[in-house]
Amino acid sequence: MDIQPKDRIIFPLDLPGAKEALRLAKGLSDHVGLFKIGLELFTSEGPQIVKQIQAVGPAGIFLDLKLHDIPATVTRALRAASRLGVDFVTIHADAGPEAIRGAAEVAAGTGTRILAVTVLTSLDKDTLIQLGYQPDLAEDMGKVVLRKAAMAREAGAHGIVCSGRELETIRANLDPELITIVPGIRPAWGSVSSDDQKRIATPRDAIRAGADYLVIGRPIRDAADPVEAAEMIAQEISEGL
Ligand code: C5P
Repeated sequence: MDIQPKDRIIFPLDLPGAKEALRLAKGLSDHVGLFKIGLELFTSEGPQIVKQIQAVGPAGIFLDLKLHDIPATVTRALRAASRLGVDFVTIHADAGPEAIRGAAEVAAGTGTRILAVTVLTSLDKDTLIQLGYQPDLAEDMGKVVLRKAAMAREAGAHGIVCSGRELETIRANLDPELITIVPGIRPAWGSVSSDDQKRIATPRDAIRAGADYLVIGRPIRDAADPVEAAEMIAQEISEGL
């Protein structure tokens, strides 16, 4: 099956409960590729929320658990997640190659793919130094992200989450099959009030730079007509391909 531009949109269901999440999912299911279920919704509603969202329509599930634990625990959590039939699960690259390898092994053949989170965009140079990084490395975020992405790929991760800013370095240095997921996307026509995203890119530019999937929340959720916003974004994606 051919992947359409709208299939590259990942819409985060960053909501406190099932009722609100289902309402949004019902409206957008035919207009985005995947719904992202994150820690808030998963913690409040449990695994049944995955089943409920899957039952709404054709969109897939991106389970953003950001696992970070010893290899045995990560592997077992991944096995449980793959039984839910989700398309993607996130693991912190910092969990290390053994955890990623174990996760990739249990995911093999299940249809669930592993994504490594490299460096949270909320961390900056000063935080990395506080965390023990040498200042010259902390200074070079692209290098830190690339190192973690390369390690995760080598260990069997199918893809990574990175900002639009690091995409070029990733594409220039790692194999083209690596799936890239890019948040911080802002269409030129939309505005998000008191925006906290700093490393932003437009959908067209991110796709042109080699992004496979875009995480787009508020520009769709806060639009007067979310379906229309998703359609306009899909149009921009098709222009960038
Ligand atoms: O498009 P918007 O900024 O509303 O999207 C927010 C979503 O993107 C949240 O689910 C957040 O977890 C996710 N995200 C992010 N920045 C990152 C990684 C993920 O905002 N670096």
